[in-house]
Amino acid sequence: AATERESLHIISEYAQKYFEDQLWNSDEGRSIGLSYFKERGFTEETIKSFHLGYSPNGRGVFSKEALSKGYVEEFLVKSGVSIKRDNGELVDRFWGRVMFPIHSLSGRTLGFGGRVLRSDAKTAKYLNSPESEIYHKSKILYGLYQAKTHVVKADKCLLVEGYTDVISLSQAGIKNVVSSSGTALTVEQIRLVRRLTNNITILYDGDAAGIKASFRGIDLILEEGLNVRVLLFPDGEDPDSFARKHPAHELEDFINEEETDFIRFKAKLLMADAKNDPIGKANVIRDIVQSIALIPDDISRDVYLRECASIMDMEEKVLYSELAQLRKKHI
Ligand code: CTP
Ligand code: MN
Ligand code: MN
Ligand code: MN
Ligand code: MN
Repeated sequence: AATERESLHIISEYAQKYFEDQLWNSDEGRSIGLSYFKERGFTEETIKSFHLGYSPNGRGVFSKEALSKGYVEEFLVKSGVSIKRDNGELVDRFWGRVMFPIHSLSGRTLGFGGRVLRSDAKTAKYLNSPESEIYHKSKILYGLYQAKTHVVKADKCLLVEGYTDVISLSQAGIKNVVSSSGTALTVEQIRLVRRLTNNITILYDGDAAGIKASFRGIDLILEEGLNVRVLLFPDGEDPDSFARKHPAHELEDFINEEETDFIRFKAKLLMADAKNDPIGKANVIRDIVQSIALIPDDISRDVYLRECASIMDMEEKVLYSELAQLRKKHI
């Protein structure tokens, strides 16, 4: 119901303010949370613009404070900031973590990601809010609220994996950037971007998982009728780690020079495995044509098919017949 949603927004906004207040104004928050963000190279301006915070290191410190301020247990639990234990105890979901609030397109707080300060195998590095009436993780892009005007102006949206990738790129002046926050990219997320631009560049982590997710993202974005380009970071780097090692102008050059269209991206990575084996090459071509077959617009599809033929040094008509067969299956 509308009133339940409003209650969840109010709780989430109270929690965001509480976590921010802890970060800036408590001894614990400053010495643990704020210094963590500063060690990662985030400036005070950046920390404020993303409303980053700190959740105190005590099981129910936040929940107790919220209850004493009159916030209702039912909505503390439904919004996910508190968890009700079987023994009746109300505990904080994010205790002892630094906090990344997640906003709607209009800037309302929907939920949180909370990061542990030191990574050990015992607990998940990030905890996220559970699904609620206001937080549907498959329909949210982290950073979209801060990025939206920049996406329109650049007529391009950069898509990264994580919270800190968004924040570091933004701090380096590259502000048209959003994250699907570790969840596999969804059609709903692509449609959110499509309201602002037709151009997406994928900048996932330079590891096997990042490559796999890029391949999947390419097909999904093409199917929604958008243009997709890809940039692969050096092995073991993500946009945040790369941004920290290079000055802003180098980062910008790197992105502009290294981003490639999806055909070249797939050709380069797949051919590396296929070597010079003709059957391998045929499979690479088939794989690329399969992606091209997903493009809904006839003219774009044709343009990409010609490009594929040229890059792979193939007769266009061979590729056209392969494409026609795939399209028949598709429809
Ligand atoms: N993620 C998550 N839960 C985890 C690990 C990751 O929800 N246990 C999500 C987070 O949104 C994270 C994104 O997936 O930002 C990308 O994961 P990863 O690359 O592992 O983390 P980074 O964003 O690089 O985090 P950091 O730099 O803080 O280590
Ligand atoms: Mn809903
Ligand atoms: Mn990753
Ligand atoms: Mn990463
Ligand atoms: Mn990282």
